[in-house]
Amino acid sequence: MSGKAKHQYLSKWRCPSNIALVKYWGKHDFQKPMNPSLSFVLQNAFTETSVELHKDGNQKLEFYFEGVVGSFGDRIEKYLDHVSAELPWLNKYNIRIHSRNSFPHSAGIASSASSFGALALCLTELDFAFSGKEMDSPEFWQKASILARMGSGSACRSVYPVFSIWGKTKLFESSSDEYAIPVTEGISPVFSGLRDAILLVDSGTKEVASSVGHRLMEGHIYQRSRIAQAHENINELYLAFLSGDQEKFITVVENEALSLHALMMTSYPSFILLKPNSLELISRIRRFRDKSGIPVCFTIDAGPNIHLLYFEENELDVKAFIEEELLVFCENGKWIDDRIGEASPNPSKRGVKESVFVDDCIFEKLIS
Ligand code: DP6
Repeated sequence: MSGKAKHQYLSKWRCPSNIALVKYWGKHDFQKPMNPSLSFVLQNAFTETSVELHKDGNQKLEFYFEGVVGSFGDRIEKYLDHVSAELPWLNKYNIRIHSRNSFPHSAGIASSASSFGALALCLTELDFAFSGKEMDSPEFWQKASILARMGSGSACRSVYPVFSIWGKTKLFESSSDEYAIPVTEGISPVFSGLRDAILLVDSGTKEVASSVGHRLMEGHIYQRSRIAQAHENINELYLAFLSGDQEKFITVVENEALSLHALMMTSYPSFILLKPNSLELISRIRRFRDKSGIPVCFTIDAGPNIHLLYFEENELDVKAFIEEELLVFCENGKWIDDRIGEASPNPSKRGVKESVFVDDCIFEKLIS
């Protein structure tokens, strides 16, 4: 170590992807949700991002995705421009970002939630370190969630372990349109072993960008009913969480998934994102549930892939069902075996933080 101050800083975080059970669809103002949503984070699908602040050369932003100049760079540049109003120190440095996903690019998993979640955590850590604020505090997570939301709405739910709610709801006084809150109290252990088998029907690029899809809710004929439905579904789902009611869980989750697609089908212009194989999977999942009595259900984001949700204790039976009956309807027989992310009493010790804010010589040591 030279001992010479280099004024370079590094923050590196891992952030999971999440899957919504009650869907965010439609916005108001800047990146605020039309209705509250509820999700859980995944265990195996995550993004790792490092942010380096330096004063070498004169390139303001370098963005590398899996080692090569990333196509996401323009969106990141716009984002950094926007958040620099809140993080004025950003203007004093050149920024080098390296990012990688644990899941393949063509897996049909939306990466904006984990990407902006990880980036926001890095920026929050740097900000708190510069201002000497307490890292392990509710304010830290709130700020990370706000910064994540500004990049992609669903990302604000990814910074917390397990379940979180984003959007004002009467259910929680502390809920907000600006940031997500973690939901931990009183959830039945029945849900701690949730599994998510992501059945890949089509891994191609998205037919409708989320930002375009959200705009279709402006003036949508069902807008008011949708808002009311999402509030009711959040209440019902939370009741199911508290009582361990799997049947109610299944009813709400499938209602949300199909409502999201019904909204897309009835907007102008309208979109049908489900493929024949998506429908085949849905009907087979329902038939399997009826015949076997095993509590399985599906959720779907704004695309054709089907998330088959089930419980730990049924793993063997459900995996056999997937292999025997479902894989034939997946693109090249592909699926991703994922599960709910693990909880920890202290979010900062949940193992997602790979390295802490460092500077000067320590930084040199870390990257060498
Ligand atoms: C259908 O968070 O991707 O997955 O805020 O425009 O980046 P932007 O949208 P995004 O929308 C996700 C919509 C959804 C439902 C959900 O995750 O709640």
